[in-house]
Amino acid sequence: MSDLHDIRHRFPGIASGTTSTNGDDWARFDGPAGTQVVDVAIEAAAQWQRSGNNANSHGAFAAAQACDALVDRASAVMGRLLGADPAGMVFGPSTTANMMALTRAIGRGLGPDDEIVCTTLDHDSNVSPWLLLAADTGATVRMAELDPATGRLEVDAVTSLIGPSTRWVAVTGSSNAVGTIPDVEAITRAAHETGARVVVDGVHLTPHRSVDVSAVGCDVFTTSSYKWYGPHAGIMWVQPDLLDDLDAYKVRPAPDRGPGRLQYGTPSWEALAGIEAAADFLLEVGLDAIAASEAERFARLIGGLHAIDGVRVVGPQDTADRAPTLMFEVAGRTPLAVAERLAAGRIAVWDGHNYAVEAMGPLGLDAEAGAVRAGISIYTSDDDVDRLLAATADLART
Ligand SMILES: Cc1ncc(COP(=O)(O)O)c(C=O)c1O
Repeated sequence: MSDLHDIRHRFPGIASGTTSTNGDDWARFDGPAGTQVVDVAIEAAAQWQRSGNNANSHGAFAAAQACDALVDRASAVMGRLLGADPAGMVFGPSTTANMMALTRAIGRGLGPDDEIVCTTLDHDSNVSPWLLLAADTGATVRMAELDPATGRLEVDAVTSLIGPSTRWVAVTGSSNAVGTIPDVEAITRAAHETGARVVVDGVHLTPHRSVDVSAVGCDVFTTSSYKWYGPHAGIMWVQPDLLDDLDAYKVRPAPDRGPGRLQYGTPSWEALAGIEAAADFLLEVGLDAIAASEAERFARLIGGLHAIDGVRVVGPQDTADRAPTLMFEVAGRTPLAVAERLAAGRIAVWDGHNYAVEAMGPLGLDAEAGAVRAGISIYTSDDDVDRLLAATADLART
């Protein structure tokens, strides 16, 4: 059995003690919105702040040089984690902020004859920045539709919209709503054949699958370290030549080449220290081991939900090509009411659309109320799953 759940002791937020609001008696299925932080990432951020190295980059003294060395180390480990050239690592406050900086730069080169392909499977941080860009430039956004029958985004739903006017394709690596994983490699190949560039939103994929950006071949890949046991930050890999070519919105003294072009102001050094430690942790445990362990808990969860009368699992009913995240509804109860009842039993789930706003309609859900979302994380145990199933069965019965 691939079981990592004794790894729970590495997460102080759930491993130790119990307060009225938090503690080790909570079953946490809220990982897709943000995970608990692993011990080494907490310690690395604290240690950085204690060290005296808090300074700024490119200075003549030791602490400033320690800041530069930290950027180099964080970029290198992110390169190993994502299979990407470390020279393209842009560190920012969040993926949404990074996408706004990217699209603002891209927009300076777009006009009314240009097209962008987005998808209804995506989180809005990979849709709205493009819609805003289109409003500013006159470019057209075409939406590739997920298949309402399967909850999956087929390759040809995207590639059929790609034509000679397509300049950018923006597609998710994995849905944060229902976990499905589109074939971004095939989509990237098709886009590149017509000269279009590709942004893959890797935020929900990175904690659950081994990523190899160089094999995918995309031009931009985004991820957020607070989804994989690290601090709140966004890391956006941009193919280094593209990074230098973009007509970045930047302050004049900011570098003319490299990641500094899209990084606004001084990065959070303590976050970089945490990112380095969290990425090292993922590499140490191994994404394949994580995926195998999570797959077991996920099969238990989806199988258990299927067995409860009055529960509808939204989207795909199987576990193939899918991160361990699902949405479900309980007949006769709003998603919020379900989430509140589960919370009363110290089980954390999200309700609503989770910013996957385009996906709600095709999945047969109310645009605002959405559904209940439960995600498996590295620390989720069988006992957590059984508690969620038992509490949901109670709700469906009464
Ligand atoms: C798939 C996906 N993309 C993007 C984001 C946005 O990330 P951030 O909060 O870092 O802007 C999220 C956050 O939930 C997400 O799940």
